[in-house]
Amino acid sequence: MEVLSVTSEVYPLIKTGGLADVAGALPGALAETGVTMRTLVPGYPALLAKMKGGREVARFDDLFGVTGRLVAGRAGGLDLIVLDAPALYDRPGNPYMGPEGWDWPDNWKRFAALSWVASELGLGLVDGYRPQVIHAHDWQAGLVPAYVKYGPSSTLKTVMTVHNMAFQGTFGAEIFSQLRLPPHAFSVEGVEYYGGVGYLKAGVECADVVTTVSPSYAAEIGTPDFGMGLDGLLNNRSATVFGILNGIDMEAWNPATDPALKQNFTASTIQHRLANKWAVMEAFGLDVLEGPLFAVVSRLTWQKGIDLIAANIDMLVEAGGQLAVLGSGDAELENAIRAASMRHPGRVGLITGYNEPLSHLIQGGADVLMVPSRFEPCGLTQLYALRYGCIPLVSRVGGLNDTVIDSNVAALSAEVSTGVQFSPPDIGALAHAIRRTLSLYEDQKSWKKMQRRGMKSDVSWAASAARYAQLYSNLTGMPTNANS
Ligand code: ADP
Ligand code: GLC
Repeated sequence: MEVLSVTSEVYPLIKTGGLADVAGALPGALAETGVTMRTLVPGYPALLAKMKGGREVARFDDLFGVTGRLVAGRAGGLDLIVLDAPALYDRPGNPYMGPEGWDWPDNWKRFAALSWVASELGLGLVDGYRPQVIHAHDWQAGLVPAYVKYGPSSTLKTVMTVHNMAFQGTFGAEIFSQLRLPPHAFSVEGVEYYGGVGYLKAGVECADVVTTVSPSYAAEIGTPDFGMGLDGLLNNRSATVFGILNGIDMEAWNPATDPALKQNFTASTIQHRLANKWAVMEAFGLDVLEGPLFAVVSRLTWQKGIDLIAANIDMLVEAGGQLAVLGSGDAELENAIRAASMRHPGRVGLITGYNEPLSHLIQGGADVLMVPSRFEPCGLTQLYALRYGCIPLVSRVGGLNDTVIDSNVAALSAEVSTGVQFSPPDIGALAHAIRRTLSLYEDQKSWKKMQRRGMKSDVSWAASAARYAQLYSNLTGMPTNANS
């Protein structure tokens, strides 16, 4: 079976967050189920630079008013179809914004073009290639199910995966006439959303199946607090909304072989983590002390609860902890952490910007990874933490709820806990969780056992890839290795 994945970012070629990790790992994970997944991505300069020897397979003279072409080839271990349209994608900055941090004003066009091209591929645009399913990720690919629904094919199926309800791609009604959709698509059953055009709404409305990235988030988005305007629609089609937990790339994230670590380790050589802890301390300008090293690897945003951490830093330091924060995002949150690092030299460190190797070193060296999110569709950093023997301290929401076993009394006595959870995501509950973590750390023997349990928990793609394969199979009636 052939599935075309449509995404605005994909690891290891272009990444701003977890979507890239998932889009990058899923094709490999699916290969074992007999599903062949190719990935359609925009031709950003960084990506084109990494792709050598591609083959032009289609040309467009009028791609939403610009010219473009499709280049097929391999890069980063992936089978890619790249939409090379310089007028849309040959720009500095990240996939969505310019270097000054503003969204590109023509994002509606940049991602409508991507989605339209995907649907054309599904209709057989390229000789010898005809996917049975198009798997659209997030609002950037949200129009795919609409193009397919209002297009000529009755057999092509679509899956819409919501990685984050907070980003919906909503635009004014005036763009509609340029979207190449029939007039009746501007309706409740189509792309219309509160009088404008909603890309994620269109995907959620028009796809054959909607998935999100954890069972808990799948349930949460049916409520007004988490559904962010789409809860009603999701409830109407709840029989075709599924929560499938993300896994991680077990090769890219393997503490036994990871080249970013100072010292590699396994569950039985966990003491080797110490060399990595010292390296993290050095990188962040921290004093070498005995207490637990807390860490954060995150976008610095409201979603991630970074303000809750900022409010607890003085307490954390006074109680004997240290903190290393790697991340960038809202200037106000960055400043709050920076101010704390100046108040507590040698105890709190901040490194801004994006640094993939350092993110690995932190997972392999820090004692605790904090993820106090207000909502978290899945979250990958707590999965990396589990695999690297770094204890996750997380809020009890979304995928964090599904992947970490809290050290409550019952779990401690049954010896099954893998981390610390708290709820609700507020300053007081986080303070309590930090104190709980500090006291767990005092019992080093049971702490090490907890680390080992985390390292052994299954964070791979195996089970979830089989679920996606089953889903495609149910949609198309075609067998996969998962059900044959
Ligand atoms: P989200 O996609 O909401 O940002 P996830 O936890 O799913 O959250 O994924 C975040 C990904 O981005 C992880 O791979 C994490 O390691 C990585 N990441 C976040 N911030 C940084 C950073 N400053 N440097 C390196 N990697 C980062
Ligand atoms: C989004 C979510 C995150 C999830 C990631 C990959 O960015 O915020 O929770 O892990 O997508 O699915």
